[in-house]
Amino acid sequence: MLWCTCHQNPLPRFRSPGVLPCVLTADRGRSRMRGVVRTTQALVNGGNVKPSLPKSGERVAEESAAVAEPSVAEYVVKNRFQPADGAVHDWYRFVLGYPPHLVREYLRLLDADPDRDWVFDPFCGTATTPLEARLRGYATLSADANPISILAARVKLDWDVDLEQVEPKLDEVMEYAAGCLHDLGLGPCPEGDNQLTLFGPARPRVGGARLPAGRFAPGELLPAEAAALIPRDFISRKPLLRVLALRSAIDTVVTQGGVRDLMLLGLANTIVSTAGNVGFGPEVYRLPPKDDADVLGAFATTVSGMVADLRMVLSRQIPPFPEALVFQEDARSLSALDGRPPIGLVITSPPYPNEKDYTRSTRLESVLLGFLRSKSDLRALKSRLLRSNTRNVFAGDADDAFVADIPSVVRVAEEIEATRLRLGKTSGFERQYHRVARLYFGGMYRHLSALLPRLRPGARCAYVVGDQMSFFRVHIRTAHLLADVATKAGYKVEGIDLWRTRRSTTTGLDLEENVLVLRRPTARGGTSEEPGRKRDDWPHPGFPDGEAGAPGFRKPRSADTCRQGSRRWDHRLRGVRR
Ligand SMILES: C[S@@+](CC[C@H](N)C(=O)[O-])C[C@H]1O[C@@H](n2cnc3c(N)ncnc32)[C@H](O)[C@@H]1O
Repeated sequence: MLWCTCHQNPLPRFRSPGVLPCVLTADRGRSRMRGVVRTTQALVNGGNVKPSLPKSGERVAEESAAVAEPSVAEYVVKNRFQPADGAVHDWYRFVLGYPPHLVREYLRLLDADPDRDWVFDPFCGTATTPLEARLRGYATLSADANPISILAARVKLDWDVDLEQVEPKLDEVMEYAAGCLHDLGLGPCPEGDNQLTLFGPARPRVGGARLPAGRFAPGELLPAEAAALIPRDFISRKPLLRVLALRSAIDTVVTQGGVRDLMLLGLANTIVSTAGNVGFGPEVYRLPPKDDADVLGAFATTVSGMVADLRMVLSRQIPPFPEALVFQEDARSLSALDGRPPIGLVITSPPYPNEKDYTRSTRLESVLLGFLRSKSDLRALKSRLLRSNTRNVFAGDADDAFVADIPSVVRVAEEIEATRLRLGKTSGFERQYHRVARLYFGGMYRHLSALLPRLRPGARCAYVVGDQMSFFRVHIRTAHLLADVATKAGYKVEGIDLWRTRRSTTTGLDLEENVLVLRRPTARGGTSEEPGRKRDDWPHPGFPDGEAGAPGFRKPRSADTCRQGSRRWDHRLRGVRR
C-alpha cells in the first residue's frame, strides 16, 4: 500500500519499504522522510527549534525567569547527531539527551568488553546508551522512573517484534481512526489538504463503515482531570481529536504487545512533532496554535519509517541478540536489579540541578497516551524523580541529610541562599533553590550508594552532567560536587572530562558539560580490572594530549577556572596525572 500524507503537495513523500527500495544513506533521515524529519527533529537535538528562542512572553509562566539557558546553537552543537549515529535513536528523543557517539566514545575509553560487561543506564531517558551499546554487542540494563522513557526503551530494544504484523495492522489502525473521525464530522486529513492516497483504492471502507456508531468516546480516553494536566494551548482541538482517534484505534485493533508499543511510540513521536503546538529550546515552549494538522499521515509515515529502520538494523545483527532488560525504577533504590548480573559499565546522564521539569517536557504525550490520568499520578511520578527542580520538592523530603557533611555541597547551597537574601527575593520557588541543591546531591548520593554493590569490582561509570547557574546565577559545578558525593559513597574518582561548553546568553559565561568517571575499587584497593591481566595489557586509546595515569581522560580543568565549589578534585586529579 502507498501511504501518502495529505499536505498541499500531491506527491507521495514516502513509500513503504515494500514499494520503494529504501536507500539508507548517511543522510538517511533527511532524505527519507522530509516532512516528518522536520518534525522528528523536534526530538532530535533541538532540530525543530526555530532559529531563535521564543520571546519571553511566549514562554509558559511556570518557567523560571531565573534560568540562564545558553543559546540553542551553542547548546546543541557538540550534541548534534553524526551520520554514524544512525537509525532507531531518532524514533523518540529528548533535546537534552546526549548523542550516540558519546556512548561509542566512552565504551572505547572505558575499555568495555562485550564478552564481559553488562552496560547499565539508570537514567536511560530515550535509551541512547542501551541502544547504542546493544548495537555493539553488549547486554544492557536500563531504568528510568518516567513511564514514557520506559516505553521508548522497550520499543527501541525490542528486536523480536513481529514486523510482518505491523503494516497490516497499520492499515487497520488508519481505517479505524478515519472511521472515528468520520463520526465526528472530520475527514482523515485536514480540510483543504490534498488527500491523494492516504487510503488506496483497495481500501474502500474509509468513512466509518467499519466502526459501529458511538464507539469512539474522546472524553473517555481523555477525562477532564487528565486534560487539565496538559499546559494551555499545547495542542489544538482538531489535532487532539485525531490523536485520540489513533489511540482508540491502536487500543482496539492491535492486541500484540510489541506491535502495540511500537505504534504507541510512533504516536508519541507524532504528538510532539506534528499534532502539538510545542517546541524545545531546550525547555518545552508553546508554539502558535494551529487549527489542524495531518496527524494520521505523519503517524503512518513514522510507523513505516520505524519498520524500515528496524529491518535495516536487524539485517546487520546476528541473532541471538544480547539481552536487554528494562525497568521502571527510581535510581535511588535500584531494587529491580536484585538477582541481575553484576554491572561492568555505566554510561548515564542524570538530571542536572537546573529547574528543568522532565514531567513537563514529556507531559503532552504522557497524558495523551494515558500514562498520566490525574494529579495524583503526576505527583507520584514526581516523587520518584531526583529533586532537580523546585516543582518536585515535597514537604517530607530528606535526601539532603546524606550530604550535610560534604562541605562543597553545603557551601554552594549556602551561597544560593545568601544570594537570595541579598537580592531580597521572596517567592516560594526562590526560597526552595538552596534546598533543591542539597536534595539533588543527596539523591545522587542515595543513587550512587544503591549502585555500588551492583557493580563488579573494577567497574567504571561515566556520568554526563552540566554545570548550572539557574539559581540566582550561582555557579553549581555539578561534576565536581558529584565527585565529592561519589567519594563519600565509596567510589574512586578517575577523572572529570570536559565534553563541551555551552555559552549562557544571559551571563555570557561558558558552562561546562563534563563526564565524571568513577570506578568501583577492587577488594584489594588496586585498580587493575581482573586478576591475571596486567593493567598495561589494556588498550588505552587516550586523547590526543596522551596523558599517562588513568587511561583515556583529558586533564581536568585547571583550578583557576573554578569560581567556587570543590576545587579538591582538580588538585587531586592533576596530581594523579603528573
Ligand atoms: C538527562 S535525562 C537522560 C537522557 C538520556 N541520556 C537520553 O539520551 O535520552 C534524565 C532522565 O532521568 C530520569 N530520572 C530523573 N530522576 C530519576 C530517578 N530518581 N530515577 C530514575 N530516573 C530518573 C528522567 O525521567 C529522565 O529521563
